Amino acid sequence: MTSLFDPFDLSGLALRNRIVMAPMTRSRAPSTVPDALTATYYAQRAGAGLIVGEGAQVSEQARGYLFTPGLHTRAQVDGWKGVTDAVHARGGAMFAQLWHVGRVAHCSVQPSERAPVSSVARVAQGVSAFGFREDGTPGQMPASPPRALATVEIPGITADFVAAARNAVDAGFDGIEIHGANGYLFEQFINGGLNTRDDRYGGADVGNRLRFVLETVDAVVAAIGRGRTGIRLSPFNRVFDMPAFAGEAGTWLALAAELAKRGLAYVHLSNREAILDTAGRDFLRRFREACGGIPLILAGRYDRALAQADLDAGLADLVAFGRPFISNPDLVERLREGWPLAEADPATFYGGGAAGYIDYPGYRQAAETA
Ligand code: FNR
Repeated sequence: MTSLFDPFDLSGLALRNRIVMAPMTRSRAPSTVPDALTATYYAQRAGAGLIVGEGAQVSEQARGYLFTPGLHTRAQVDGWKGVTDAVHARGGAMFAQLWHVGRVAHCSVQPSERAPVSSVARVAQGVSAFGFREDGTPGQMPASPPRALATVEIPGITADFVAAARNAVDAGFDGIEIHGANGYLFEQFINGGLNTRDDRYGGADVGNRLRFVLETVDAVVAAIGRGRTGIRLSPFNRVFDMPAFAGEAGTWLALAAELAKRGLAYVHLSNREAILDTAGRDFLRRFREACGGIPLILAGRYDRALAQADLDAGLADLVAFGRPFISNPDLVERLREGWPLAEADPATFYGGGAAGYIDYPGYRQAAETA
C-alpha cells in the first residue's frame, strides 16, 4: 500500500513524500519582491514533498491584491532566487504559481488605476479585494467593475504567462503551476454562466471557453517543457461569484481530456470538499480517469487519515495541505510521528511581517521551550 511518506517521481523530479504545501498568498512583499523573510518561511517548510509557492502575478495587470509578489521583473526574479536556493539547500522542491486575477481586483492596484479585465464586463458581486482606500491606506474594497478583454489582447496575456514561466525557471523553481482555479481569470473564461462572449474565446461552445487556458498551457509547455508545467483548477467552484452553469461536469471533463493529451507534470484540484458536496465521488473518479494518468493532487481540509484514505482509494497521487502548513513548519514530521498540530491564526494570514509567518515553532522546538 502506498504511504503518504513514500517518495514520488514527478516527471523526473524526486519528491521525498506525497505531501504538497498548497499555494498560499501571504501578502508580505510590500514592493512585490520576495525577501529574506519569505526565503526563511519557505525553507522552514521544505520538508514538504513539493512546495507550490503563493500566487505570483504575471504582470501588473494580473495583480489583484496589495503586497503580493510578482514574476515579471528582474528584481522579482532575483528575490525568488533567494527563496528557491533556501528551499533547495534543505532538499526541498518548489513550483511557482502563476496568477492573473482577472476581475477579482480593485482598480487602485491596477496600472494607472484602470478597470480590471475579465471575459465579460460583469462585476464580481459581493467580492472584496485588498487595495488602497481613497485616503491611501490599505484595506478591503469591493472588486471594481471590469472591462471585457478584446480578442486581440488575449494572446498578450498568454505571452505574459510564458515570460513569467521562463522567469520562474531562471529564478530556480523546479516548475510552474498555472493558476486556473478559484474564480480568477482562467475560470472567468471557462465558466459558461459568466463567459457569454461571442468570439472564439467564449459563448456556449465548450471548446471556445477552454481555448484561452489551453493556448496558455501549450505556450508554456513549448517554453519550459510539459514535465515542468502543472495546473490548478477548481471544478464547481462558487467562490468569487462564479455561477453554476449547464454542462458544468462536461466542461471540466472535456478540459481534463485535453490536458491528458498534453501530459503535464500534474493537475491540482483546490477544492476537494466542494467538488464532493456538489458532484460527488463519482465525478472525482471520472475526472481522474479523464486526466489519463497525469498525476492528480487534491487539496482541501485534509488531515493525515483522510489524506491516506484518498491515496488508498486511488483518488489522488499527492495530497496538498494549506492552512496546516502555515502553523506547522514541520508538518510532514508531525504527521509521520502522530504529533499534535498547532492551529493557524487567521489574523496573520495576510500582510504584516514575521509574526504569524516565520515564528511558528516546530514540534520539538515547542516542546523544548515548554
Ligand atoms: C489560499 N489558497 C490559495 N490557493 C491558490 O491557488 N493560490 C493562492 O495564492 C492561495 N492563497 C491562499 C491563502 C491562504 C491564507 C489560504 C488559507 C488559502 C487556497 C489553498 O491553496 C487551499 O486550496 C485551501 O486552503 C484548502 O486547503 P486547506 O487549508 O484546507 O488545507
